[in-house]
Formats: sequence, structure tokens, C-alpha cells
Amino acid sequence: MSVAGPDIRTAFASFFQKNGHLLLSSAPLVPHGDRSLLFTVAGMVPLKAYFLGQDTSPAGRLTSCQKCFRTEDLEQVGFTARHHTFFEMLGNFSIGDYYKDEAIAYAFSFLTRDLGLDPRRLAFTIHPDDEVARKAWKKVAAVGDDRIVPLSENFWEMGKGLPGPCGYDSELFWDTEKTCSCGRSNCQPGCDGDRWLEIWNLVFMEFDRTQDGTLLPLPRPSIDTGMGLERITAVVEGVGSNFDTSLLAPLVQGFASRSANPDADSAAWRVCADHVRGASFLVADGVLPGNEGRGYVLRRLIRRAALFARRAELTGGLAAGVGELASIMGEAYPELHERQAFIQGVIQTEEMAFAQTLDAGMSRLDQLLAQAGSGATLSGQDAFRLHDTYGLPVEVTVELARQQRVAVDMAGFQEELSRQQERSRSSARTQGNKVSEVPSATTTFVGYDQLEIDTQVISVLPDEVAGQGHFLVFLEESPFYAEAGGQVGDSGTLRWESGSALVLDTTYVADKVRAHHVKADSPPAPGTRVTASVDALRRAAIARHHSATHLLHKALREVLGESAVQRGSYVGPQHATFDFAFARALTESEIERVEETTNSAIRANYHRSVDLLPIGEARRKGAVALFGERYGETVRIVDFGGWAMELCGGTHVADSGNIGCVFILGEQGIGQGVRRISMVAGDAAVATFRGNHRRLREVASGLRVRVEEVPERVALMAARLRELEKATRTGDRGAQALLSRATIEEHGDVRLAVLDIPDADSELVGVLTDGLFSERMHGKGVALVLGKETLAIKVGPEEVSRGVSARVLVNAAAAAAGGKGGGRPEFGRGGFESGRRAGVPAAIRSVLAGEKVDA
Ligand code: SER
Repeated sequence: MSVAGPDIRTAFASFFQKNGHLLLSSAPLVPHGDRSLLFTVAGMVPLKAYFLGQDTSPAGRLTSCQKCFRTEDLEQVGFTARHHTFFEMLGNFSIGDYYKDEAIAYAFSFLTRDLGLDPRRLAFTIHPDDEVARKAWKKVAAVGDDRIVPLSENFWEMGKGLPGPCGYDSELFWDTEKTCSCGRSNCQPGCDGDRWLEIWNLVFMEFDRTQDGTLLPLPRPSIDTGMGLERITAVVEGVGSNFDTSLLAPLVQGFASRSANPDADSAAWRVCADHVRGASFLVADGVLPGNEGRGYVLRRLIRRAALFARRAELTGGLAAGVGELASIMGEAYPELHERQAFIQGVIQTEEMAFAQTLDAGMSRLDQLLAQAGSGATLSGQDAFRLHDTYGLPVEVTVELARQQRVAVDMAGFQEELSRQQERSRSSARTQGNKVSEVPSATTTFVGYDQLEIDTQVISVLPDEVAGQGHFLVFLEESPFYAEAGGQVGDSGTLRWESGSALVLDTTYVADKVRAHHVKADSPPAPGTRVTASVDALRRAAIARHHSATHLLHKALREVLGESAVQRGSYVGPQHATFDFAFARALTESEIERVEETTNSAIRANYHRSVDLLPIGEARRKGAVALFGERYGETVRIVDFGGWAMELCGGTHVADSGNIGCVFILGEQGIGQGVRRISMVAGDAAVATFRGNHRRLREVASGLRVRVEEVPERVALMAARLRELEKATRTGDRGAQALLSRATIEEHGDVRLAVLDIPDADSELVGVLTDGLFSERMHGKGVALVLGKETLAIKVGPEEVSRGVSARVLVNAAAAAAGGKGGGRPEFGRGGFESGRRAGVPAAIRSVLAGEKVDA
């Protein structure tokens, strides 16, 4: 058959469009505004409100190919032909428009005509009480009663007991014509064996299951159908496993080809393929690995896959599959292309983090399993420690334990987990503050708009860390920002009728509990009305640095690509550092481009707006989330003119122009794949320029050049220094040997040293003259060195005072040997003709002997 996976997607859409259905694009995996579900688990999830009559559907007939995600059978994934976490569901929906007859007729027609499936290999299940459905199948499919199987379980709901629309359903089965594993030759759908494959579910929605479990009639009976794209593709492509379809096989093979372990279990590729697909789609829809809710599901998924990848010795890790996935599915789901680098970054980071703790965790688990022995149970405490200390998801522990026939006490694990959650709720969180008793009252933060307010003291505790005279003051309302998200806490003052105190810092000591670190002789008593004022200048400087990091983050991604995402930051009044994912050092020109892009955004004077949005919407708008940070359902988006949009709780400038400018001080690696940029903004940047400029002027004046000439002069000096060092090194090596060749003569009371090195260049002659004079003559007398057509003479101060002049000697020698010379009484240089070198010492000797001969 020629239809392949992606074509089935299109064939389905056009069949139902032809039949009057409006084609909807897939909604995100994270259901919007639906707190009853973690993920979109079926095609009808985004349409729930239409079925329930809470919202008006854009049309009575809808169709979609919806991305879905389920984790109920996570441990099965990879080991069976059809379990997935992520899958696509094809569906047609009637919102009070057509009902059973049409739904059945459409399904049969699409399968047998459009996909060309053999009608004789189809069978249908119905609810035993659903006479209408039975009649419809008989009419449409013209089949005998043996192909219409009544099953009492044919009632579909969102999940066991979950609220939402529900009703009888009818399932379509495909006869694989295998000898069924049940052993019977005439088994029917509903048999647990492997002959009958369920391919399509038609739900006849009649009821709304309410929160308390009652069934109420829906405003209008409706239709919800769902056909897993992977399954139908396997049928159409005639392959036994969904993993062998054109939708998944290239991904599976990609992983297989990167394995360095020939003995690896082939389930590993399927696990990696499924989980990387699932994880990528989750990340694309804004889920980030974390310790709770959706984030934890994602973390489990990546870590389970990483475990298999590790055993299979996969090169390139899991992230290597993301590109392949984008090429297989990116046309239907452009978010995979758009966020590819980001997805890769998230998966890689989680994989790396896991790898760090895994070794320790695994060997601990092996030990525990060996101790426990087959048939035993691992205690909840041990499982919790593996989870808490080693980051081993409990599901991974369960899976590995199961392979050794060891059970895990999950109830005990849950108990430990809730105990820890309780502990962390009530324990101090920051800076090791030992707060003996955390006040339960939370403080209302008003500091986004106000820097000074009148409020009341709730309670006061001694600050045990800072010691005598230091207190933690808790206020009803506060304009003080407490250290969070990299931004330092505010400082300022508290004033009240009978006193005042300095606020040195502000931190959270527990969730939403804000401590003002106060220094005071006697603190305000609980109940006192105080005026709380933030140091406004310091706050403004912090805001400039914080806003600058947002612009820098965007600039980094513009210059280096989308994978350069934030890993952390420090934002203070004097400077900021920004950590981001990047594999290598930045070049000078990249740093300049990042700085320039940031400064252009400052000059563009983007207005800063703040929006509180549901997280899904925020991500759809393109807001950047930070790794490892967890956000509640509603998030705060800080946006600079649509250019740089981030989820952030910090305080910012009103317009990007207020930052003034930024200046990157440096860039360095701070860990595997993580770089850090240090920068200064606003006043701090100006102070840095000013300081640098002053130092430059000092250098220029020291070198006696203009500021602009400093680089050239320094380069010259450096070159000269290098030459000298080279000469010294040469000198060091050979100098002693050369100097030892000198002869020393007495001419009256003047000692003359003569060194003749015929191939020495003038540079070496200079160096040797110095050496000869200081080392052999100890700074006295006359030192003469002859090189190749060049000579130099040095005369000691005593001899100079007695009238001996190097200039005179050089001139006499040069004249005698056909050259020229010059210099000062202490030192002179000259040249001579090579054939007349013997004339040089002779001339010197006669000058010294004949005494004062003026040249
Ligand atoms: N909601 C039904 C299912 O998930 C049909 O789409 O099976």
C-alpha cells in the first residue's frame, strides 16, 4: 500500500473536511486552563468545553490530528509494539450535529475506501445496550453478527472516575490474522491475545460526569472519535510494530546506529525514540524538567531514556535524536524546528545532570539490591534516598529492581516524600538562616510600584546568623524585594515613632515569608507602625542590571543561536553575571556583537510591560523560561517592546533606555557547557569606562605619547623586549664562552680588552660590549668588541675623567680601517671595511699609547 504515516494524517483531514468538518490545528500538550488534567490525553481534550456547552464551538463538525501524551504504562514503553507516551490522535467530532449513524458510516468509509483496508478484516465492539450502534454497523458494514461484539466495558470516559463528557463507545478492530496467543482460532475482539488490534474508538457522548461522579445529560448528544495515527499507520504499512512505521522507524534506527554496544537490548532504541519524541514535544510546549507535576514527568522520561542510552553506549546522547525528529515531524509540527536548539539544550542539560548523580545512585542501588536479594522488598526509605540524594526517579528504581525480582515499598516511599515536602515547607530556605520559628503570616509585596509605605510589624526574631544587634523583621506589607531569581535583596530603612533601623538585606526564609535583615539597638516591637523605605538609588541600579540581563540574554541568542539559554544569573547594583549554555569560548567579535546588540536594544528604548498570563499562553507568545525554575499556573512576563520577553519576578527599568549602556567585562567557562558573562550597566558602566580611561591616560603620559598612540607604542616596546630577551637568551647561552675569548692588554695605566667575533651582528656587538665591560673589566678601562664590519667601545668613568674618549677611539679606528664612527666619551660605535679589521685594534692601541689624539 502506498499511503504512509504523514499521508494518512492528510488523508484523514481531507476526508473529513470534504464531509463538512472544520480542520483544527493541534492544541499544545499542556491543556489550557484545565486543572483536572496534566496533559492532553485525547483529541477531544481541547474541545471539552464545546461538548459541555460551556463554550461555543466554531462549527458543529470538527476534525483534528491532536498530539497526545500519556504515561500510565511508561514501564511498558519500548518492550511492546504499541505502547507510547507521545502519540497522535486523528479524530472527527460532532458538537450536537450528527450522531451514531453518520459517525459509523464515516469511519467505515474512510478505512475501506480512502485507506483501502479489507472490510472482511474489520470487526466492531458495541455496548450491549446500544441497539442503535449495532443496527448501524449491520447496515453500513453489511457484516454478520459474529463481527459485532457486545462488551459491557464499552463506555468511554476521560479516565476512571474523572469528570468530563462520556458515553457508550464502539471500537473498530483489525484482524491481524495471526494465530492468536489465546490459542483459539475463533476468538473475537475483546480477547486479550494479539490477534485483534483496536484501531479506532467512536464515542457517543451523552453524559457529563460531574466532580462528585454523577452522570448528567449533555446539552446535546455528540460524537468524539479517536484513531491513533501510529496504529493505523502500522496496519496500512503492514508492519507488526508501531516502531517499524515510517513515523518512528527512522528515529529508532538513528539511535541504533549510534550505539557502541553491540549487545544492547533493541528495546533501548525504542525507549529512546519514544521518550525523545515525547520529551521534545513537551519541551516545545513549554514543560521544563522539574520535581513536581509536568516537570517531573518530563524529568522521568528523559532520565529513563538516559538510562537505556547509557547501557547502549549511545554516542551523541539523547539530544542527537532531536534533529532527526524535527526532520520526520517538523513539517506537521513546526515548533520542532523553531525550538530545536532549545529542546536539545534542555534534554542535554537534564541528561548531563542525571549522568553526574547516576553513577553513585546506580552503584548504591546495585548494593541495596544485592543485599535485599531476589524476592525481597526495597524499603521506602531506601527508594526515597535514591530519589532525593542521587536523583534516581523512583520509577527507574522500580524498573531496575523488578529486573532483579525485588519489589519496592511504594507506600513507604510516598510517606518519606510527604515528610520531606512538609520539612521543606517549614524550613528556612536562604543563606543558611537558622530561623527557629518561621512566622506563618506572609508579607504582601508592593515593591513593584512603591518604594516607601507605612505598614505594621508582624513579628521580630533575633538573627542568629548575624548575631547581636541583628534581627529579622516581618512586615504585613513590604516594598523590599527579597533575594530571588538571581536578583539581590533590597536594603533601606525602617522608621517608627521612637526609633529607626537599617535594613541590610531582604530574603525569603520560607515560601512567601519575607525577612528584613535589620541592624538596630532595639528593634520595633510587633504591632508597631513603621515606615519602610527601600534605598531607591540602589534599587534603580539593580533594576538597570536586571533589565540588562534580559536584553543580553536575547542578544546572546541572536548572535549565538537559540541554544544559548540562561543557566543562572547574579544581579546586583554594581555588576551582573549571566550564565548560559554554550559549548565553547566566545570570540572577541562575538562578544562585541553581543554587546552591540544589547546596546542597540537599549538605544531603541523599548517600553517595559508586565503581564500576568497563564503559563501556556506566555510560552506561546514566546516568553523565555529559565531552567530548573518552577512557576505557578499564572506567570509574570516582563517584556521589552516585544523584543525580549521573559518569565520573571524581578524589578526592572520602565524603558530600556534607562539602562544607559552596558559594557561586557569578560567571558569565561564555569562548567561543562556553561559560560559566564560579567557585565556592568548604567552608572557602573560609566564608572568603569572612566576608570579605564584614567588609567589609559596615565599609561600614555608615562610613555610620553598621546592616548591614541599607546597601542602602537606598547606593541613596539613589546617587540623590542622580545628581541632583548632573545638576545639575552643567546647571550646567556654563548656569552661566557665568547667573553672568554677576549684578550686584555695594558697600555700604560689603561687596560684594554679586545674581543674579535667576526660574524657578530651589531646587536650582538652591543650586548657583548656591555658584557665585556661589566664582567671582564668590572666597569673599568676600555672594552672593544669587533663584529662583522662593526665595532663598539665602552670606556669606564675613571678613564673618561682622565680624558679617554670612546668617541675618539671609535673615530680613529674607523678612519684607520675605512669606516665611520661616533658616540659619546663613555660609549661609541663605528664601522670598518672587512679586509681592514686588523687596523682597528692597532689604531686603538696607538691612540692609547700616543695619548691624547683628537679625532
Ligand atoms: N476520546 C476517545 C479516546 O480517547 C476517542 O477520541 O479514545
